[in-house]
Amino acid sequence: MGGTNPYIEKPEVALPKKAYKVSFHRPDGPPIIFEVDPSKLPFGPTGLPGSILDIALNGGAAIDLEHACGGVCACSTCHVKVVKGLESCNEPTDDELDQLEEAPDLSLNSRLGCQCVPNGTMDIEIEIPAWNKNLVKEGH
Ligand code: FES
Repeated sequence: MGGTNPYIEKPEVALPKKAYKVSFHRPDGPPIIFEVDPSKLPFGPTGLPGSILDIALNGGAAIDLEHACGGVCACSTCHVKVVKGLESCNEPTDDELDQLEEAPDLSLNSRLGCQCVPNGTMDIEIEIPAWNKNLVKEGH
């Protein structure tokens, strides 16, 4: 499922112009490191183009991050923590912050994966919270 949510504020996003790396740290295995090629964005229909969710699900990282609402900022199941490179990501909208409040284990670097779009000026590191269990597709 994918698409956009007409009822929310549209986030201001700068897409990357050069390749950068995303490291996904998961609770049950070694990190998965994926290089984002900006010429291939969006990778799929789910989440904002170039978002952490887009990269995780469709970019080849093979991480099945939860996304109960289909990536339209209407749940909080795609909650991740940006442990490095948060400054290269778009600012969260009020709608994103409202949804995030529903997520367990919040911290200052918490974001919704479907709304968080890095601009590619630096490599970033993402921590997937342990409670977000639907993690890695078979093969990893
Ligand atoms: S998938 Fe529902 S808010 Fe991101």
